Amino acid sequence: MTSSSKHTAALRFVHYSIALALVCLGLARPACSQKPFQTLLVGIDHRTVTSLNGDWHYLVDQSPGRALYKTNGDINDSSYAMNSHPNIVGQHNEEYDFSTAPTLKVPGDWNTQVPQLFNYEGVVWYQRDFNAEPRRGTRTFIHVGAANYRSHVWVNQKRVCDHEGGYTPFDCEATGVIHKGSNFVVIAVDATRLVDGIPSVGFDWFNYGGITRDVSLVTVPSVFIDDYDVHLAHGAKYDPANAELAGYVHVLGAAVGTPVTIDIPEAGARVTAKTGADGNAPFSVKASSLSLWSPESPKLYKVNLASGDDKLTDDIGFRDIRVDGTRILLNGKAIFLQGVNMHAENPIRGGRTNSDEDVATIFGYLKDMNANFVRLAHYPHDERMERTADREGIMVWSEIPNWQHISFDKPEVYVKDVLMLREMIRRDRNKASVILWSVSNETPNNPTRTKFLSDLANEARSLDPTRLITSAIIGPKPDGELRVNDDAFCDALDVVGQNEYVGWYESKPEDADKIIWRLPQKPVLMSEFGAEAKYGNHGAVNQRWTEEQQVNVFAHQFVMFSKIPQLRGTIPWTLTDFRSPTRNIPKLQDGYNRKGLISERGEKKQAFQLFQKAYKEHTIGKAD
Ligand code: GCU
Repeated sequence: MTSSSKHTAALRFVHYSIALALVCLGLARPACSQKPFQTLLVGIDHRTVTSLNGDWHYLVDQSPGRALYKTNGDINDSSYAMNSHPNIVGQHNEEYDFSTAPTLKVPGDWNTQVPQLFNYEGVVWYQRDFNAEPRRGTRTFIHVGAANYRSHVWVNQKRVCDHEGGYTPFDCEATGVIHKGSNFVVIAVDATRLVDGIPSVGFDWFNYGGITRDVSLVTVPSVFIDDYDVHLAHGAKYDPANAELAGYVHVLGAAVGTPVTIDIPEAGARVTAKTGADGNAPFSVKASSLSLWSPESPKLYKVNLASGDDKLTDDIGFRDIRVDGTRILLNGKAIFLQGVNMHAENPIRGGRTNSDEDVATIFGYLKDMNANFVRLAHYPHDERMERTADREGIMVWSEIPNWQHISFDKPEVYVKDVLMLREMIRRDRNKASVILWSVSNETPNNPTRTKFLSDLANEARSLDPTRLITSAIIGPKPDGELRVNDDAFCDALDVVGQNEYVGWYESKPEDADKIIWRLPQKPVLMSEFGAEAKYGNHGAVNQRWTEEQQVNVFAHQFVMFSKIPQLRGTIPWTLTDFRSPTRNIPKLQDGYNRKGLISERGEKKQAFQLFQKAYKEHTIGKAD
């Protein structure tokens, strides 16, 4: 990141923060409860932590959430956060009690754990005790992998953080409030949809609520490494001889000139850098031997970082990704992305994906399908996905949930978006598998949205100039046999994602054969296409909802794709049928979007075999 782009990025962010502060003064408080993050610990899964996963007591605080929100919308710090106990006999006091309350598994959505909460979208309070041994010269954080949608965290009755966003991690500092022995944490999670939320109120997936990813207690030295970026230096042109590794290590609380060592023994790279006034230690070092990460050889290196009393080792791959005209180059070689979309929903058990087993099942499907790429729709998934993609050699598209209609005219929503973008990029910046950051999906083409998202795309580019920026553009209105994407927002993108549902939402499957696309002269990925089919439902190729019809739609798509010279990847919608409350045709949908290649019970539809074969034989599209 060049100093000027860092400077402009910081300036742009300050500009919007001031806007937020001004707007806050006028708005109901909840929207403003989240402060810009103090820190977000990178590489948590490579640190020694105390897991707080397991059974947490819970209490439901039904709308209007009177235990959480005061009448003026402020957060109520003196209700359930106190974790006190009712006097069953004697003087009346509280009317709640976590200690005798039932439990929910963390990580896990509440919807698939408690039948009565299946459709619940409100406030649930979680509580558990934990032991701690605070040591002098250390700091302790509660790290939450994700909780949907707004979260407020108390430790020993002190509110330590607030967070908005259901799919990105956050850290809450507990240093000053924990003590030796038994402590307790209370987390209120509100899954209520917000018009000014990200996503907003309407979206085509199930709004699983709760603490959906791992929670851990992390103790680090008081001066510690909270962020780092170690990547293959990214010059203006690809240089096959390039073995220069570059980046930065940020040491929170470090005095100017604090030494940091970056040591990668297997690559013969070792350097000591010094922190500046901002705690950042930029570095670059030549590796004596380097094999680049690619799907064919997903090489990861042990990267040892150390500064003062703090040290951390991460597994990082090095590769170069860029565009050259309408081609996508990985390590200088043109590639074609054989992908598929997916939601973070466990294929068989249902509910949010959040375990090694869940992820292993999914990668089994991806490998079986001969995919080399996956679009994690429409929000950042569990970090296990990127870790596994790094190891398995599957390239990744990661996205923040600007899904269709967002309050693009609201500065405070832009600030939330930048925070969410920063959280996504910060967590996965060192994942070689992630090649694309997406800032949106199918948003309405108007100037306010275009400005908002173009700024956000440029923000992503300034936060991470080593990756490609993309978005999924909504399918254009049919114009006879023409489909024209002249969306000005594409000017801000390195790679254009084009969604279309020719043969399902519009036109007949066979019409695709004659369709001509007018698309930007950039690499294009067909980021969504497909049709619904109920597994086991068979019939004629033009009989909708049958497996044969789904295959027929795809087969005609392949004809259409063969006439798009800048097509560099296909991403069918979607890997598995997934829950969506808007899909209510009994006996066919029953609350599921049925565009999966695999059913919600893991049954492979005929269309799965179609892609398995096409991807094995590389018959769809060309890399250049
Ligand atoms: C849209 C959208 C998806 C949705 C899909 C569908 O394109 O991006 O989130 O599920 O279409 O309608 O099935």
